[in-house]
Amino acid sequence: TRLYCVFGNPVRHSKGPLIHNEAFKDKGINAVYLAFEVQDAAKAVQAVRTLGIQGASVTIPFKESIMAHIDWIDPLARAIGAVNTIVNEDGVLKGYNTDCQAAVAPLVPFGISGKTVCIVGAGGAARAVAHGIAAQNGDIIITNRTEQKGLALAERINARFIPADEMATIQADVVINTTSIGMAPKADKISFPPDALTSDMVVMDVVYTPLKTALLEAAEQKGCTTIDGLSMFIAQAAAQFELWTGIIPDTDLMRNIVINDKR
Ligand code: ATR
Repeated sequence: TRLYCVFGNPVRHSKGPLIHNEAFKDKGINAVYLAFEVQDAAKAVQAVRTLGIQGASVTIPFKESIMAHIDWIDPLARAIGAVNTIVNEDGVLKGYNTDCQAAVAPLVPFGISGKTVCIVGAGGAARAVAHGIAAQNGDIIITNRTEQKGLALAERINARFIPADEMATIQADVVINTTSIGMAPKADKISFPPDALTSDMVVMDVVYTPLKTALLEAAEQKGCTTIDGLSMFIAQAAAQFELWTGIIPDTDLMRNIVINDKR
């Protein structure tokens, strides 16, 4: 039996074990995935080495601090400045960031190259999304409440910055909310002005509690194509699964197990 895990803090509500164990079973892989709430990134990495854990997901608050303790970091993860996936290759721990694929994978059917993609937010999630979109030659606009942070991210990836109070003027093909705005219990808050949405747009949200955020609700009413946060979450997990096993998991199966989970 091969061993995989997630470490973070808190990690109790992680859907990782649910979806990865289901995918292992579905693909006939003899492996198990566990969640560990840890205090210290260095000790967690040491445990991966000592126990021969084959792969690990890394979540809040360790995505940055973990980087100092592993053996090799993928260039894209280094550019993002965060690792969310460890692959143990015969004792060599390699770090990747699949959060950027979470933004890219659901957009592939619509095309990204040459499209104008507006990213709302400038935190860690925005950084991963922005690098993923930039790697696919999307034309990026960053908007953020705090101008300084938004400008800094825009500069880093050669994108335009538009201040939050001018959001209504933004014309984009794709809008991606990377902030926590709209997350329960403040689910009535909206991260982008509905008046700036038009039916030809694709609108994505990283928030998935609720599954249909106020932004996605407004987008649906305008006739936009919508991609919810669960699709993005599943996409980053599917990319991890592929790094670990070389097998592409059934993302519909992963999604359904989360939606039907009553715990
Ligand atoms: P993460 O790593 O999850 O992206 P983060 O680094 O704390 O989290 O970044 C959170 C992002 O959401 C930031 O862009 C933040 O805006 P600021 O840079 O102005 O702080 C944005 N954000 C969070 N709550 C917000 C709110 N109520 N209104 C506007 N922006 C918000």
